[in-house]
Amino acid sequence: MRITLRASRSLFYLARSAKAERLAPGRQRCCYSSGHNFKDITIEGRPYKTDSWMNTPASILSSIPRRLHLQPDHPISLTRQLIESHFPGFTYHNDLFPIVSVAQNFDSLNFPPDHPGRSRTDTYYINRDTVLRTHTSAHQADTFRANENSGFLISADVYRRDAVDRSHYPVFHQMEGAKTWNRNDPTSHSTLAAQIWADVAALPTHSMQVSDPSPTIDPEHNPLQSAHHTAEEVEAMAAHLKRSLENVVISIFTAARAASASPSDQPPQDREPLQMRWVTAYFPFTSPSWELEVLWQDTWLEVLGCGIISHSILSAADQPSRLGWAFGVGLERIAMLLFSIPDIRLFWSKDPRFLSQFSAAGEMKRFVPFSKHPACFKDVSFWVKGTSSAAGGLGGSVSGEGGFHENDVMEIARDVAGDLVEDVRLVDEFSHPKTGRRSLCYRVNYRSLERTLTNVESNELHERFRQQLVERLGVELR
Ligand code: PHE
Repeated sequence: MRITLRASRSLFYLARSAKAERLAPGRQRCCYSSGHNFKDITIEGRPYKTDSWMNTPASILSSIPRRLHLQPDHPISLTRQLIESHFPGFTYHNDLFPIVSVAQNFDSLNFPPDHPGRSRTDTYYINRDTVLRTHTSAHQADTFRANENSGFLISADVYRRDAVDRSHYPVFHQMEGAKTWNRNDPTSHSTLAAQIWADVAALPTHSMQVSDPSPTIDPEHNPLQSAHHTAEEVEAMAAHLKRSLENVVISIFTAARAASASPSDQPPQDREPLQMRWVTAYFPFTSPSWELEVLWQDTWLEVLGCGIISHSILSAADQPSRLGWAFGVGLERIAMLLFSIPDIRLFWSKDPRFLSQFSAAGEMKRFVPFSKHPACFKDVSFWVKGTSSAAGGLGGSVSGEGGFHENDVMEIARDVAGDLVEDVRLVDEFSHPKTGRRSLCYRVNYRSLERTLTNVESNELHERFRQQLVERLGVELR
């Protein structure tokens, strides 16, 4: 039996653009909006026209009002406040509406027309021109144009069609940060680079060793925007950016460790010195770009993406004399590390046994799991509609074929089981040697965070899941 495991997904757009995915015409098809009655909908008092691009289920729209990043004492909100405390003097934007234009989410940030992030298998559309923001960078251009402050932070809910497992949820939270300098501002320093170095010197220092082996600028893989910046300016801005973010991550991990009562309570990995490294990255809206990774339980986790803002973005926002850095950090991932929260679904729990464990007032404490209810695994195998060996066959990517996309399976599981599904993973895949038809087997783990599911309940959920796969994706059950 061939077991194909999903490659772990990147939090950021880097891995997406690196994936050999193409927007095949078949992938434009969507399982939710095949009817022709496109309704007008109202979301928090704002009217929207839907069209054939609409693929946002009601369950996703219903999470808009939750605003976990603003809920007092919620771990996402506490994480936001902890990060904010490292950027004194910045302006904070915490209530920007999640429905934005395609222009804001993609075009303004130089995403090419065929970027996989734009596809309806990855992004929730309301109509052809309107999406649920997939990242807080969607607000960069407008915030630069408003030019209220040379430094800002934006915290918000973001939405992506993605895997179902303990670290992925279709709604999560990001914080965007940016800091710019104006070439035309008077300075007592000889150059702007010298001014920025003086600003670096004013930042708090730390004594941690952070691995940063790559040169700041790499003409081939991480180029200088040479028409707009000097290498000295970029070295200085990179130092400012990296020091600012290292300080944040060190303070978070120090707080996480302090949250254990005594060293013997600490999981073994927490007794090791914290390890961090900078790696070269790619984003369509920064250059050079980096990611910061932290060693956590023997794996390198990317905790944030960042870089030197593309001049074209500042210039289009009427700020041609400005230059600076931007970063984006996933708040769930940080909060999971900070409070030792084992499952991303917990953030959405209204169970007081979860919520009562966090408080802005008291000292930071690790989350104490209140229960571990039994897992219930169920498999479903099916023939994918209309595949032949030419369309992929053995070893073909689950994500890249016309008409079938794994994210549709994920979304149906969420739709049917809501937060009662913990994990959906591909466990077997093969193509029939004669017909070329492709068969997939997914293993679903049904488990409630709050109670033990009955057999009858999980059987019913699984039966509905199977039926919906047939109805919405046209698969043939085996
Ligand atoms: N918006 C990016 C993402 O979600 C992260 C990022 C923000 C990268 C700002 C660079 C600068 O993938």
